[in-house]
Amino acid sequence: MRFFFVTLCTYLILVFCFVKGNPTSRRYQDGAIIDNKLYVFGGRRTSNPLILNETADMNELWILNLNQSFDVSTPPWIRGPSTNAPRVAYHTANVGGAENELLIIYGGETPDLISSSSYAVFDTKSQKWSTPNFTNTSELVRRQKHTGVTNFNDSTIIFYGGKRYDNYSSTPQLVDELFLVNMSTDIWSTYNLPVSPDSRELHTSTLLSDGKMYVIGGILNNANNKLAKMDLIPVFDLKTNQWTRVPANGSVIPSERYYHKAVGTWDNKIIIFGGAMNTTSFFNDLYVLDTTTNPYIWTNIITKGVIPSARSAHTMVMAGTNLIITFGKHADELKVDFPNNTLVLDTTSYTWQTTYTPNKLELTTPPKPNIINTTTSYSPIPSSNSSSDSGSSKLALIVGAAASILCAILFSAGLFFFLNWKKQRNLLNNDNNYNDTNHEQIKIEISAPSI
Ligand SMILES: *[C@@H]1O[C@H](CO)[C@@H](O)[C@H](O)[C@H]1NC(C)=O
Ligand SMILES: *[C@@H]1O[C@H](CO)[C@@H](O)[C@H](O)[C@H]1NC(C)=O
Ligand SMILES: *[C@@H]1O[C@H](CO)[C@@H](O)[C@H](O)[C@H]1NC(C)=O
Ligand SMILES: *[C@@H]1O[C@H](CO)[C@@H](O)[C@H](O)[C@H]1NC(C)=O
Ligand SMILES: *[C@@H]1O[C@H](CO)[C@@H](O)[C@H](O)[C@H]1NC(C)=O
Ligand SMILES: *[C@@H]1O[C@H](CO)[C@@H](O)[C@H](O)[C@H]1NC(C)=O
Ligand SMILES: *[C@@H]1O[C@H](CO)[C@@H](O)[C@H](O)[C@H]1NC(C)=O
Ligand SMILES: *[C@@H]1O[C@H](CO)[C@@H](O)[C@H](O)[C@H]1NC(C)=O
Ligand SMILES: *[C@@H]1O[C@H](CO)[C@@H](O)[C@H](O)[C@H]1NC(C)=O
Ligand SMILES: *[C@@H]1O[C@H](CO)[C@@H](O)[C@H](O)[C@H]1NC(C)=O
Ligand SMILES: *[C@@H]1O[C@H](CO)[C@@H](O)[C@H](O)[C@H]1NC(C)=O
Ligand SMILES: *[C@@H]1O[C@H](CO)[C@@H](O)[C@H](O)[C@H]1NC(C)=O
Repeated sequence: MRFFFVTLCTYLILVFCFVKGNPTSRRYQDGAIIDNKLYVFGGRRTSNPLILNETADMNELWILNLNQSFDVSTPPWIRGPSTNAPRVAYHTANVGGAENELLIIYGGETPDLISSSSYAVFDTKSQKWSTPNFTNTSELVRRQKHTGVTNFNDSTIIFYGGKRYDNYSSTPQLVDELFLVNMSTDIWSTYNLPVSPDSRELHTSTLLSDGKMYVIGGILNNANNKLAKMDLIPVFDLKTNQWTRVPANGSVIPSERYYHKAVGTWDNKIIIFGGAMNTTSFFNDLYVLDTTTNPYIWTNIITKGVIPSARSAHTMVMAGTNLIITFGKHADELKVDFPNNTLVLDTTSYTWQTTYTPNKLELTTPPKPNIINTTTSYSPIPSSNSSSDSGSSKLALIVGAAASILCAILFSAGLFFFLNWKKQRNLLNNDNNYNDTNHEQIKIEISAPSI
């Protein structure tokens, strides 16, 4: 009994302490909301001086539950699994799958081309990373600084622009390609859509419910990193497969920028925040684009509350009526003071919040895609069908519980020896360990000998 109790305690300590933590600063990550949880993946770690080696790009997955209130200064981040996840930065993270359960990572700079595929998929149900099979992989050239939008109506993702650029030593090539990945079948397929008005990178693409993708800002293909104009918006209509450019005016047009972020709101506005003008000048301004008029109209929103500092290369999502911003940088490459703090803006009053309170999450919950076939090859969703299923799932639960307790024992023992070894060797932290939870590791070290 006592043994069981101690084991259980150790298990609970492992579950509750080991995975919780404070992510360190990062930029060039991407994120998406699945089932009201924000998943932030990858990005480049902060280092000064800037060292680009195989540890610069991260494979960390961090998860923030948005269906709970929290103090914005201490968001309850949970570390997700990284086994089989690629180390990437400048990639895209999109929602996919028959149940909107998949986090789909495409492209990005990867230091060692770990995976031959430019794709990685995290299944939030099975909590596993995998690589899907494609009919024609030659179509999916690795790229970075591109954008991706998910069309939930037919379960497709549209990727646009960016740079073909595999690693630190390959030659970059800016592209204007538009790719559509069809996830309706077991085997994914991709095909080209029309090319765009410009090649560009570090822009934003936002799909609104009118079936149009709005492209804002970024660096154009022209010499000297020329920036895209903000008073002429390229729009791709998914229903007609056609590009147009629509003028935008307003009393204040936002400055040209890249590394900014844009989100579509539940009421079909586009909000942009932050970004950079060049390597030293960054923005903390917020604009709303109304696309229901012609020309479109920009409005500069004077936000209330504690105005955050300038930020670029951040992750920005809309959760109901709250705009959530996290990670990114606010100075040039070589400075270490990149923020890892999270910002929350209540868009009903445009006030920056100190406490996050979930509000109307259903407004931004995407519909289940109208999918013809499921992505069964890498998405093992158990069917809740017959009665014999519940019997086997009970058995699975018992086996699973026994296995996890055994794992916990082995793991704590292993961890105890590892920590001792680590202490002796005084090794530096490694990305694949949960190194961001130093306080919790000390707790585990105390509890581990009692088994
Ligand atoms: C930011 O990262 C630092 C370590 O780099 C950590 O000490 C701090 O707690 C983190 N802040 C948050 C809000 O997670
Ligand atoms: C990679 O860079 C980090 C600093 O960012 C350094 O600590 C580490 O030793 C480097 N690794 C190699 C193999 O050079
Ligand atoms: C949020 O969580 C509560 C239970 O804690 C649940 O009843 C509710 O449906 C959830 N809301 C959403 C939008 O998922
Ligand atoms: C694969 O895609 C490439 C690039 O689009 C194309 O040239 C080639 O014909 C495709 N191969 C097959 C078998 O479809
Ligand atoms: C970098 O990418 C290029 C192709 O762009 C490839 O030829 C080269 O082998 C890659 N280098 C490494 C270290 O993977
Ligand atoms: C996706 O593939 C399915 C099955 O092949 C097909 O019926 C559907 O039309 C495709 N969707 C698009 C947008 O091409
Ligand atoms: C998805 O379907 C809805 C309802 O039919 C429609 O209003 C919307 O424009 C569609 N979106 C796209 C991207 O086609
Ligand atoms: C925007 O353009 C429209 C049409 O040309 C014009 O009526 C409107 O006054 C302009 N608005 C601003 C703020 O310039
Ligand atoms: C960036 O832009 C600002 C404002 O125009 C200017 O003062 C600064 O010199 C620029 N920095 C660089 C590196 O061009
Ligand atoms: C889904 O795909 C599998 C294998 O390609 C096929 O056997 C099955 O009939 C398909 N189901 C539907 C509903 O299209
Ligand atoms: C992908 O295809 C290969 C060869 O056809 C097969 O061996 C592998 O199991 C497939 N992977 C998945 C995840 O379906
Ligand atoms: C689920 O139940 C239906 C009706 O009993 C049956 O036709 C179907 O084959 C079952 N599906 C699975 C995956 O067991």
